[in-house]
Amino acid sequence: MHMLKEPFENRSGKLFIDGVPAEKLAEEFGTPLYVMSEERIRANYRRLRKAFSAHYGKIRIYYAAKTNTNISVLKILAGEGAHVDAVSPGEVSLALKAGFAADKILFTGTSVRTDELEFLAARAIAVNADSLSPLERLLGIKTPELFSARVNPEVGAGHHSHVVTAGKETKFGLWQDDAVKAYGLAKKAGVRRFGIHMHIGAGVLDTEPFLLALDRLLGIAKKIRVETGVEFEFVDMGGGLGVPYKPGEKELDLAVFSENILSLFKKRAAEYGLGEPVFCLEPGRYLVCDAGALLAAVNTVKTTPFKKFIGVDAGLNTLLRPALYGSYHHILSAGKLDLPDTQTCDVVGQICESGDVLARDRRLPEIAEGDLLAVLNAGAYGFSMSSQYNSRPRAAEALVKNGDYELIRERETLEDLLARQRIARWLK
Ligand code: LLP
Repeated sequence: MHMLKEPFENRSGKLFIDGVPAEKLAEEFGTPLYVMSEERIRANYRRLRKAFSAHYGKIRIYYAAKTNTNISVLKILAGEGAHVDAVSPGEVSLALKAGFAADKILFTGTSVRTDELEFLAARAIAVNADSLSPLERLLGIKTPELFSARVNPEVGAGHHSHVVTAGKETKFGLWQDDAVKAYGLAKKAGVRRFGIHMHIGAGVLDTEPFLLALDRLLGIAKKIRVETGVEFEFVDMGGGLGVPYKPGEKELDLAVFSENILSLFKKRAAEYGLGEPVFCLEPGRYLVCDAGALLAAVNTVKTTPFKKFIGVDAGLNTLLRPALYGSYHHILSAGKLDLPDTQTCDVVGQICESGDVLARDRRLPEIAEGDLLAVLNAGAYGFSMSSQYNSRPRAAEALVKNGDYELIRERETLEDLLARQRIARWLK
């Protein structure tokens, strides 16, 4: 028996997502299929906004688009009033198409090319620079109205070393002295509006690293203000808010989290003469992760002298996180929710790599070929990190809403594997 939380429901042993049977979605749209719940995305956004707004009047939430750039997902969040964090011209262009106004987009790219800066300048997109070079090049193109820097607060955190994005080992952010230089430079060039930003890492379930880093960031903001005279319109504490993936794993207690963060923020802002800047958060995962599942069909069940393997039609091409970070994703048997877990097995994909394992030594009920599995928490960094590896067309995506459903991305076809390829002249 599985305890499910919204939008997932057990109706007589069958998995429903936002009121729609998982098996029906798989039948209609095929597998592997990403399913996103609109209600859950909205609920996540509103919960976060409400918790933070309870302690401070000026809260802004940037959705980190890299998490899931489906245009329907972007539209839902645009409709909620979110701003957007974009890290590439592609994300900027999708955000604009989804209806985000240019002044609601903050570009936080790294290793940015000059033509990309030109792209941003032409669309009046604010650049959050993570080194001096893009700022210098940007000023050579056009003096922006607003400038902000991604500062390295020297404290990082994350669910895996690959996703710790502050501290000594990371390529991201400006260190204090360069940050002071950057604002001085921008001010001298005529920039009038300023923000300051950090992002410490991803999948953080503790408050402590955020507090340490924010404290440090505000100290750096004070130094910048004193040395350059810049006044900050916003302070962005980045994203990284974790969500539980394993049953029983604790959730962020938003009431406590927001209160701790904002009381530190208000105290330091007053102490350091920073005024009352807008306080920004930049979550990706928190908004969309638990709103999504990946449905996969069971193709093979194989027992070796050592293990049992459930072979499904999704894998590291569809959901890279388990292979890349060893991440845990809970898996349900969509039609057997009332059956007890009686076996231990590896759930594996179709990719020719031994690392193509979605779940290792997992307890599941008896599974037969043709069964449907649901991989949970697939709404964040699922489709967006998927690939055509092994020449497998990318999966489809569906949106569900209160019993209604629709395809929001067609499954790629074999033709897509050849799209934009060219045969060399001498091979024709
Ligand atoms: N802001 C910036 C500047 C970021 O680089 C990121 C994520 C976020 C916000 C949002 O972080 P979130 O709230 O989603 O944790 N692929 C990895 C996560 C990499 C995140 C990179 N940056 C994963 O699947 O866990």
